[in-house]
Amino acid sequence: MNTAHVESEDPRNASLSYYDGPELVDTLLDALARAGLDPTALDIDDLAPLDEFHALGRAASLSLAELADVQPDERVLDVGAGIGGPARFLAARHGARVTALDATDRFCGAAELLTRGAGLADRVEVVCGDALALPFPDHSFDVAWTQAILQNIADKPRLVAELARVVAPGGRVALFEVLAGPGGPLEFPVPWGDRQEHSWLITGQELRELLESGPLTVSTWNEGQSALDAIATAARSIPAQPPNRHLGLHVLMPDYEARMAGLARNVAQQRIELVQAVATRTD
Ligand SMILES: C[S@@+](CC[C@H](N)C(=O)[O-])C[C@H]1O[C@@H](n2cnc3c(N)ncnc32)[C@H](O)[C@@H]1O
Repeated sequence: MNTAHVESEDPRNASLSYYDGPELVDTLLDALARAGLDPTALDIDDLAPLDEFHALGRAASLSLAELADVQPDERVLDVGAGIGGPARFLAARHGARVTALDATDRFCGAAELLTRGAGLADRVEVVCGDALALPFPDHSFDVAWTQAILQNIADKPRLVAELARVVAPGGRVALFEVLAGPGGPLEFPVPWGDRQEHSWLITGQELRELLESGPLTVSTWNEGQSALDAIATAARSIPAQPPNRHLGLHVLMPDYEARMAGLARNVAQQRIELVQAVATRTD
């Protein structure tokens, strides 16, 4: 694993401490054993309930990959990759060469374990680093990809500038993100935080303006119901799998039930909504 260690004392990056916690490797090995899976011969479809750390699971990654038109051998940077489920999916199903970057050491360790176990170490590189100071030269990737990370990052202009910087001309920035909805302020807890200093939501209009303030042109914008519809369509092409109660986001998240209930309440009250966006570097 490459490490560009994140030493942010910036209070606006306080949300990163939310993801701190005990080492995950043993926890994951234990969960895999209970689930009856061999950690050295993993199938990414078995892992999907556990390693897609965002709303609507694998279907959301599938839908975004189709919108972004990810092609074999394209260089994809997954920024805020969590434990690497979407990165492995893009490598295994789209043939992409993926760099999975995350600032949380324990997630990077988990991403390495699962990537090796899935036999994808030759196509997925795990890098521990900061989305606000991406450790890559300009124009290094065909696609910069984020899912469920914006809400944890206060300095969105810097994030968007970094995403645009590392994408080659003609390349794409692809996002599946949570937005502030019209229903009022967020109620906690949610899967990305316990209190206000963990969460930095902006509206769709604010995000779109940010994306278009530099060299990017938005080519796809599915906000609210249109994002849900696109993801529901993608979900229909995913074969149903028998549930395995040992593998799920509860392995990563303390107080899982309360956080998911908080998420459902905020969605129902329109305090948050979802967006899928693809922006192309047009210079
Ligand atoms: C809700 S998880 C989403 C993980 C992954 N994108 C997925 O969809 O499975 C948010 C992730 O953003 C990461 N993150 C937050 N701030 C970051 C930063 N400044 N740089 C890199 N990663 C960051 C966290 O460590 C966490 O893994």
